[in-house]
Amino acid sequence: MKPKIIITREVFDDVIDYLKQYCEVDDNQADAPYTADALAAKLADRDGVMCALTDRIDAALIARCPQLKAVANIAVGYNNIDVPACSARGIKVTNTPGVLDDSTADLAFALMLSTARRITEVESYIRNSEWTGWRLKQWLGVDVHHATLGIIGMGRIGQAIARRARGFDMKVIYHNRKRVAPEIEQRVNASYASMDDLLAQADFIILQMPYSPETHHLIDAKALAKMKPTAILINSTRGGVVDDKALVAALKNGVIRAAGLDVFEGEPKLDPGFLELKNVVLVPHIGSSTEATRRAMAMTAAKNLVAALTGQKPPNWVNP
Ligand code: DGY
Repeated sequence: MKPKIIITREVFDDVIDYLKQYCEVDDNQADAPYTADALAAKLADRDGVMCALTDRIDAALIARCPQLKAVANIAVGYNNIDVPACSARGIKVTNTPGVLDDSTADLAFALMLSTARRITEVESYIRNSEWTGWRLKQWLGVDVHHATLGIIGMGRIGQAIARRARGFDMKVIYHNRKRVAPEIEQRVNASYASMDDLLAQADFIILQMPYSPETHHLIDAKALAKMKPTAILINSTRGGVVDDKALVAALKNGVIRAAGLDVFEGEPKLDPGFLELKNVVLVPHIGSSTEATRRAMAMTAAKNLVAALTGQKPPNWVNP
């Protein structure tokens, strides 16, 4: 008998076709997010779930799903899943590392360039038919090239960002929970800095560490006050690593120059203060959102799920 699974959100058709070769599949191509109760009801007699970061797979849900054996997240981050609770029940958890590194690094760079050169501000100016002619001191931005980039979180995506910074002749410093191997530092041309030094020296700061209780509000009012008043902050990792209220206040009061944000605390809701500010570029959690990458993520999750439910070792097993 094939294992029974659900897919919680819309995915590409070929991913469903692949899964159907191995599993009995209940999909959700209508893409209406399940409430916690609906998800528990759907999963009550299912062996596996392919889920997204919008689904909370917590201890309460797990307790209501006695058959559940595998949870395949379509994301590299898995802070939406209570991994210890899964492990305690012997439920395999998987994620999708690797396939989204370059797209996410591209987006971090796009946010850095657009905040530095005020792209969204000037685009509205043109769309509002306000442009009457060229002026020397019009819409002055700041240079990305030759600036100092501070990357917090030097995993695969952090390294992909550092590689891109080379093309812009940037000086790259980084902070990471553990200093990375000297070969990596050399390859990506980045030097280690303490958190305080990074905050004090960087012109651009990109956050790329995973979200966890330890990184909750890592960037708070105190950390923002340690940055240069000309600093630009990019959050391309997870809402919650920045205290968004403190960031709104810092942007309003000139504590830092600007911010580029792909992620927000409590998204899709966001602090209304952001909408009143011109010095912030806002995009809706699209770091990995290219067609090729989202396809690769969904297929990676599908392969992880099939492996987990057919007695093989899933390639991206988070809790082996
Ligand atoms: C991830 O994989 O964690 C991304 O945030 C999803 O887009």
